[in-house]
Amino acid sequence: MSGLPPFDFETVSTEWLRTKPGAKWHRAPDAIAAWVADMDFLPAPAISNALTGAIAAGDLGYPDWRSIIGDSPATDAFVARCASRYGWHIAAADTREFNDVVQVIQVLLHTCTSPGDGVVVHTPSYPPFLHSVAASKLRLVPVPAERAAGSAARWEFDYDALDATLLAEPARVLLLCHPHNPTGHVFGDAELRRIAELAERHDLLIISDEIHADLTFPSLVHRPVALFAPDRTVTIHAASKAFNLAGLRYAIAHFGSQGAKKAVADLPAHMLGATNVMAAVAAEAAWRDGDEWLTAVVAHLDRQRTLLSSLLAQHLPDIVYTPPAATYLAWLDCRALLLGDDPSAHFLESGVRLSEGPNFGSEGNGFARLNFATSSTILGEIVQRMATP
Ligand SMILES: Cc1ncc(COP(=O)(O)O)c(C=O)c1O
Repeated sequence: MSGLPPFDFETVSTEWLRTKPGAKWHRAPDAIAAWVADMDFLPAPAISNALTGAIAAGDLGYPDWRSIIGDSPATDAFVARCASRYGWHIAAADTREFNDVVQVIQVLLHTCTSPGDGVVVHTPSYPPFLHSVAASKLRLVPVPAERAAGSAARWEFDYDALDATLLAEPARVLLLCHPHNPTGHVFGDAELRRIAELAERHDLLIISDEIHADLTFPSLVHRPVALFAPDRTVTIHAASKAFNLAGLRYAIAHFGSQGAKKAVADLPAHMLGATNVMAAVAAEAAWRDGDEWLTAVVAHLDRQRTLLSSLLAQHLPDIVYTPPAATYLAWLDCRALLLGDDPSAHFLESGVRLSEGPNFGSEGNGFARLNFATSSTILGEIVQRMATP
């Protein structure tokens, strides 16, 4: 921690958290909230200062951007960050701003597929992926996560089996969650190369949701899949997970696939709305000035994921926990506890609200997702309560 400003992630109190009007704590009035993917921390000072500065400047009218549809200064900050942080060199002209990440996914599925087309998804899956596929009347082609043989420490996916499936039943899209929610799996170079090869061989559009990229724990690094399949990928980013800004509603997409770019550009100009000035101010501040805070929060979350291992070993040793390689979400295998398909119902009675495993698809049966982006004291209380019969 030496050299970093003393950002405080340890003194959050449940009393303060309960005063917050947001969904996470408000919808868990009698429990400790460890469900939806918001962190319990104040935003980075660089972001709060930029937002209050924008209000003090007194102009919340139409912005003087190149295009109100989405071309704010956050775009330039994003393009610069992709080069410096990921070694990924992109042009602003291939990006477009949106209101949120799931909107981009739904728009792409709507414009680039026909009902009945197959969509490859690593499962268990972030629930809105499943809802978006169903809402567009598409066919889910699951790639199930398996724990690496003889080890609870890593998740694996069987790409030979996927190859065979796609030969028998072609698909149109590979919808990637990179890093993966809920397992926290980080796709490494060899795996991304394999995914790119499969996309080429089976002519798939890759839609890559990289919203959790900046929450990758050292010593791994995030590598955009677009580095491996530049012409057939649409990459979606937002500052909202890593910088805790989900309520501001902002996302940005990079179109490596020119076909997808045209399909979206051909929609009526005002159908998708415009970028919120405050959201753009926050995203720009996060990407230009937020890295010290980000490094500190990732270091705190890294300690929390390790602390969770020891707390579970001590109080709930029958839960199988593979610490995530990215994100603050722990995917807990509770099947040995024999609590049925939805163990979160039991833990809610013990005073902790977790995310329901079955919402992540049938492979989530017997699982629950725990959000550990809080203080070590609150995490301790979460596990203590969960262990209370
Ligand atoms: C993988 C993933 N994508 C998207 C989102 C939500 O993004 P947005 O609110 O911008 O749609 C989340 C939120 O938890 C997420 O985990």
